[in-house]
Amino acid sequence: MIKKLLSFFAITLIALDSTAMEKLIVNTDSRESISLNGTWHTIVDPYETGFYTYRYKERGEDDREAYWNRPVAKDKLDRLEHGYRDPYTIRVPGDWNSQSDTLTYYEGTIWYQRDFDLRKLKRGERAFLYFGAVNYEAHVYVNGKKLGSHKGGFTPFNFEIPADLLKTKDNFLVVKVDNKRHPQEIPTVNTDWWNYGGITRDVKLLVMPDNFIQQYALQLDPAQDIHKAKEESRFLVSGSVDLNRAVGKGDVILAIPELGFERRFPVSGSRLEFEFELEDLGLWSPDSPKLYQVKLDFNGETLTDNIGFRKIETAGKKILLNGEQIFLRGISVHEEIPQQVRRAFSAEDAEQLLTWAKELNANMVRLAHYPHNEQMTRMADAMGILVWSEIPVYWTIDFGSDEVLDKAKTQLEEMIVRDRNRTSVIIWSVGNETPVSPLRTSFMKSLIDKARSLDDSRLISAALEVGYNGDVNRIDDPLGAYTDIVSVNEYLGWYGGLPDDCRTAKWEVAYDKPLFFSETGAGAKGGFYADEKTRWSEEFQEWFYKEQVAMFKRMPDNYSGLSPWILADFRSPRRNHPVYQQGWNRKGLIDDKGIKKKAFGVLKNYYREIESAQ
Ligand code: GCU
Repeated sequence: MIKKLLSFFAITLIALDSTAMEKLIVNTDSRESISLNGTWHTIVDPYETGFYTYRYKERGEDDREAYWNRPVAKDKLDRLEHGYRDPYTIRVPGDWNSQSDTLTYYEGTIWYQRDFDLRKLKRGERAFLYFGAVNYEAHVYVNGKKLGSHKGGFTPFNFEIPADLLKTKDNFLVVKVDNKRHPQEIPTVNTDWWNYGGITRDVKLLVMPDNFIQQYALQLDPAQDIHKAKEESRFLVSGSVDLNRAVGKGDVILAIPELGFERRFPVSGSRLEFEFELEDLGLWSPDSPKLYQVKLDFNGETLTDNIGFRKIETAGKKILLNGEQIFLRGISVHEEIPQQVRRAFSAEDAEQLLTWAKELNANMVRLAHYPHNEQMTRMADAMGILVWSEIPVYWTIDFGSDEVLDKAKTQLEEMIVRDRNRTSVIIWSVGNETPVSPLRTSFMKSLIDKARSLDDSRLISAALEVGYNGDVNRIDDPLGAYTDIVSVNEYLGWYGGLPDDCRTAKWEVAYDKPLFFSETGAGAKGGFYADEKTRWSEEFQEWFYKEQVAMFKRMPDNYSGLSPWILADFRSPRRNHPVYQQGWNRKGLIDDKGIKKKAFGVLKNYYREIESAQ
């Protein structure tokens, strides 16, 4: 009797807690999958009528007025007040704001619906729904049953579809998407970017064997002496494989065909850790972005990935890549295609943005202020562009709340797990411009510790805020004690003073660590030409960059790079000058039409100088 009661409680707990996140499945491009991208039906539901009764009580699962249930009129007398039909449709992936003028400013709930067919699953096979990202809160239903919910607009998640729920034809998939902002969320209510809503990245139906490789990591062992390894041309590689559930006995076969490497690793339980040596390895770097095809074989499923091998570290005041000092010639980027005023999501979008960065002679991008789509980091791997990836712990987060800290940690883990095999990613950032206070510093330190526990092979940082003036600027934010590099945002000459104040500015850092300027920049309306003393003109922005570059040339010896703000103009509801801004942050070096501004050339030349000096 007791046992029965306990198991009843256990099942109920699981059922009740449908927000419990399922472990992320990585490298979905390499799995058996059906794309669910395309045109979905929608219901725009600002009052959340599909979710709550008129008494604002959550609807019961079988409530036929719930928008997760297929609306079927019994007869012509029947009263039905919702439905999914043309022309109420939207494209997935994509934000909703750019797809209809009525949704440009919309923040609220939209219900997405489509049917899908799926062949009968073979014995032991399992089906999962995978979302690249949904901004912000998603509730996912199949055939009227809730699979789960997820918060966080820029990281992937997946839910298993119980086999007994599936039909071979016309499975009814519904996703409730709500992008409303709240003080207790990440990001919180105030940001300087557009709160694009929707199913913004790919959706896939994955078919998996009963037991499969859920996550894996493979990289040069961070503890090895890279100089010795290069001399002897023998490199230690280490990594791990996590299965979705434990096995008594099994084998994982890891192969790198190009190197003639293949090894069988016996596995028991759910985790395998391994290390092995490789000879004659071509190391990955921006100048030679060498990627190797890696194959992981387990239980009849073969995963293929393209992975490069490199070591990133700091040594005192220097950043070292593969043991050599490297200067980060960076640029900050938002996940947006300005010409189409929309969120970026595809390989073509990534290519456009990273090609612009290459044209700037940049060797690094700061993906701001949230994890960008996986196409971006995979493209950076291939194009040889170093990446700073960040979670949107931005400005005035509620640092006193454990619940908020948990949300930040979840997003951090999802970011790291998805991209831990992306060679180009060298820096994990735990936040941006968070106001200094003991509560904030301990909040951020917990995130730094979490990041290190998840991945000790990369640098951990955060964009710190610093006061700036034409005199001595001291960088001593207490958080700098815990990060690997000290990164600061400064806008001397835009938010404070004028560009020529840079001539007398001095910079002091309280830490013996590499110094990186994660932001600097000035606004200019593309095509507005005047004299340099006219704000918003291209000449003013050009002047700003000239003065900044001259100042950067006088930096202390730990100066290791910068990622100015920003590659291209981007949408922001905080920018409302009727002539010069019109809802755009105009600090781009490229305008909203994709045209380069004069300042683009100033930074490009500076980077060419640095590159040729190295
Ligand atoms: C801030 C912030 C950015 C913002 C920029 C600006 O430093 O990090 O998100 O867009 O400055 O003011 O333009």
